[in-house]
Amino acid sequence: MESIQQIQTAPPNLADFVSESADGIGELFGARASGDYRNQASAQLEASLAAAEIEALAVFDGANAIGISISAISGETGVVSFIHVLASHSEKGIESDLLLRSVEGLRKRGVRHIVSDFVPLCPLDLKPALATLGFDQLDRAAMVEVLPEDQEAAPRGFRISRPAQAEDAENMAQALADGYAGHLDTPLHPDLGTRDGALAFVQNVSAGAQGAIRPEYIRVIDIDGGIAGVLFGAETLAGVGFILHVVVRPAYTGRGFGSALMSDARAEFARHGMNRFALTVSTDNPALHLYERLGLVVQKRYTAFTWSAVG
Ligand SMILES: CC(C)(COP(=O)(O)OP(=O)(O)OC[C@H]1O[C@@H](n2cnc3c(N)ncnc32)[C@H](O)[C@@H]1OP(=O)(O)O)[C@@H](O)C(=O)NCCC(=O)NCCS
Repeated sequence: MESIQQIQTAPPNLADFVSESADGIGELFGARASGDYRNQASAQLEASLAAAEIEALAVFDGANAIGISISAISGETGVVSFIHVLASHSEKGIESDLLLRSVEGLRKRGVRHIVSDFVPLCPLDLKPALATLGFDQLDRAAMVEVLPEDQEAAPRGFRISRPAQAEDAENMAQALADGYAGHLDTPLHPDLGTRDGALAFVQNVSAGAQGAIRPEYIRVIDIDGGIAGVLFGAETLAGVGFILHVVVRPAYTGRGFGSALMSDARAEFARHGMNRFALTVSTDNPALHLYERLGLVVQKRYTAFTWSAVG
């Protein structure tokens, strides 16, 4: 008999979820990211399940879990960051049950926005739940480029952009808020619409909350006494240099700054031994073509979804 429960500790078969997720990561990002995840994920998941800002649910079949969802609450936003159903129990609608219950739990905790933008690591059919919930949906793609592992291929070359400094934080936050104003991705980043929210993001990334960082992974381009654009990168998985955001302020687009930020970040990732360059993007965003031109390839398509309370 299957039952769905809130969990704060790991189910006895957590290793099954780690193993399947590691396989999914391997398909997207290769053996290094997969191997590291396989070694680290159990401890990380166990720690996160106990955290107050985490809402986790599991569907149990007897003592073992067959599906898990994890959401995080940050301010007024609930982020559904992980849904995984074991392959042996796929195509039974378990993921939709998990999503419906997660959303119920997040709403009970008073969130005003719900966002889900994770790249699924197993087959997921969330359409039944999404149809019930009436959430907005956004077609997304995970794009990946394999970087040469040989450091000689990535010398310290000339860079148009420079590593950001602590005193750039306000300008970076403003650039993010400007760049995402009225953007098709705005519902995915309810926090970035205001300067305060964007500043919190800048501080959060700089503190390593979104993956290991180096000063060279967060970059700006100076112009007219301010900054034209900003890029936030992090090593989100071992060997994976991931672009969290790249934004050029509207007054300065179309001059090659976006391309320069990306090329410079890519070069720094390669120089620091990353073997993948990656990001996610909405498929209707023309930036996808810029990324293709730079060598990134669509590796997987998925659906993101969002909801905001009215008023
Ligand atoms: C994406 C972005 C950083 C590109 O910056 P940029 O300085 O204009 O980039 P470049 O001048 O180097 O290249 C322009 C390319 O951007 C692409 N592009 C991205 N958004 C575009 C838009 N709204 N309108 C026209 N072209 C756009 C075009 O494909 C163009 O490619 P082309 O030269 O082959 O025509 C910038 O448009 C931006 O900040 N957009 C809003 C935030 C965003 O969508 N970020 C990416 C999220 S994944």
